[in-house]
Amino acid sequence: MNVVLLGPPGAGKGTQAQVLSTYFNIPHISTGDMLRGAVKEGSEVGRLAKSYMDRGELVPDEVVVNIVKERIAKSDASGGFMLDGFPRNDKQADKLDEALDTDGKKIDVVLYFKTSPETSIDRLSGRRVCAKCGANFHVKNMPPKKDGICDYCGGKLYQRDDDKIDTIKRRLVVYEKETASLIEYYKNKNILSEVSGDLDVDHLFIELKKLLAKPK
Ligand code: AP5
Repeated sequence: MNVVLLGPPGAGKGTQAQVLSTYFNIPHISTGDMLRGAVKEGSEVGRLAKSYMDRGELVPDEVVVNIVKERIAKSDASGGFMLDGFPRNDKQADKLDEALDTDGKKIDVVLYFKTSPETSIDRLSGRRVCAKCGANFHVKNMPPKKDGICDYCGGKLYQRDDDKIDTIKRRLVVYEKETASLIEYYKNKNILSEVSGDLDVDHLFIELKKLLAKPK
């Protein structure tokens, strides 16, 4: 099963992808995580990506498309994958279809997290991430047991550079301008399933599991 998670920043895509990928035993492929990994390594791709990410802009298509193509070609993705944060515009969607088509594959379902801007802003401004293992927390909705410390590995929690209010607002504008048209794109292919991203974590998981279990 090849799945795309679509929705605005802060819709809860990453949080759900983590649990869904374990539940359905398919890898969670997040372009945001891969780009942040490249930034941490200090690679050429990372340096280039950082200049866009810090401003809330999309990293150039060629860079992201190549990363995704390489990742979905790996053996652990042969039985399916869960794409989070990709595609982000029409060109990326076309390139993804092309790459899959070459191998006789396709996207089976697109889960669209319909989410209000208020929810996005609240979630992103309160998000804290573990510097060591990458686990996600939220100061109000999913607080760690000990302030500033990761429940899972004891690492320090930090706020992402692009989770500052001005950058969040820019990311939402970029989403509307570049990404929102993909809702129609996948609706026309009859593979879009909509869910409310405003639901809490547990209810959202239940709804998503139902949608993925349902034959299209
Ligand atoms: P990326 O990392 O993909 O960021 P995003 O799409 O903006 O998504 P987020 O990770 O911010 O939100 P999410 O929906 O995953 O929410 P989460 O589950 O974390 O991209 C970052 C940047 O990288 C981009 O701006 C761009 O520069 C670049 N990039 C990435 N992909 C690209 C591409 N394809 N092309 C070009 N550039 C690309 O949850 C958020 C918070 O809310 C957390 O604190 C969580 O604990 C909490 N929470 C989650 N769910 C719930 C819930 N149901 N109820 C209450 N709280 C919740």
